[in-house]
Amino acid sequence: MTYFTHKGILFTTLGSSQKTLISVENDFQLLDDDVVTVTYPKSGTNWMLEILGLVLRGGDPSWVRSVPVWYRSPWIETDVGLKAALNYPPPRCLSSHLPFQLFPKSFLKSKTKVIYVMRNPKDVLISHYYFSKAFKGFKEPGTMEEFMETFLKGDVPYGSWFDHVRGWLEMKNKSNVFFFTYEELQHNPRGSVERLCQILGKDLNSQQIDSVLENASFQKMKDNNMSNFTLVPEGHFDHNIGKFMRKGISGDWKNHLTVAQNEYFDRVYQEKMQNVNVNLQWD
Ligand code: A3P
Repeated sequence: MTYFTHKGILFTTLGSSQKTLISVENDFQLLDDDVVTVTYPKSGTNWMLEILGLVLRGGDPSWVRSVPVWYRSPWIETDVGLKAALNYPPPRCLSSHLPFQLFPKSFLKSKTKVIYVMRNPKDVLISHYYFSKAFKGFKEPGTMEEFMETFLKGDVPYGSWFDHVRGWLEMKNKSNVFFFTYEELQHNPRGSVERLCQILGKDLNSQQIDSVLENASFQKMKDNNMSNFTLVPEGHFDHNIGKFMRKGISGDWKNHLTVAQNEYFDRVYQEKMQNVNVNLQWD
């Protein structure tokens, strides 16, 4: 698989192009009633999209069970996703992995709601490692040791985790950017769904919230062909090598990183995040 660099950030040639990236940054018009889920890859994007799809339909699972996630909430920076976004009747649900500096400029003049989901970068690393083995848009990761180095340097599609998170956290004072973490979804699912309902102005009763929680559970999503990526063609994803719905837990890094690798990761983290005045407490 080949990558190209756009404004210093790597992108895969599988489904992305410079033309689309330029267009999405400069021409794409975000609308006030758009909801955009933004993440660094492997941070729980599709989980949030499932929750969002259920909340928007009052807990009714028929939409998330009948429409593939990439049509429910197209990735605007991909060639196919941008076309889908342009043909999407508002109010739109959109997705993006773009770092802030490449996000549509129209955002700054809009009331578009951005839901930014973050995850412990050590778990992102592990999830990314396994995903990269199966997803043909990403390079074969090599050993965990090698991939950790690549990841920490940001030599992966969408660039450095640190830059991505720092860039979006700078938007924290904007009233239309909302932050969630994968860990918060794990530890306080009901509270997270209630907060999301509030953000979206959706008034769901207790049974409807139960339905959101049940249908967005790991097992239900694993069984949902519209969300588990089994519909992705073999040419893009080797289903014998990996599963998109892999483990769905927090702290899997502890099963993979050695003590020395963990300490090294912590050192890099401290150095890169030293000026971030947000209390991100990862396990
Ligand atoms: P793992 O590889 O650690 O299992 P993204 O959607 O950003 O690509 O993130 C994928 C990660 O989210 C995968 O992590 C996947 O298993 C996890 N995930 C997806 N749906 C989930 C759910 N309902 N509950 C918990 N984790 C989920």
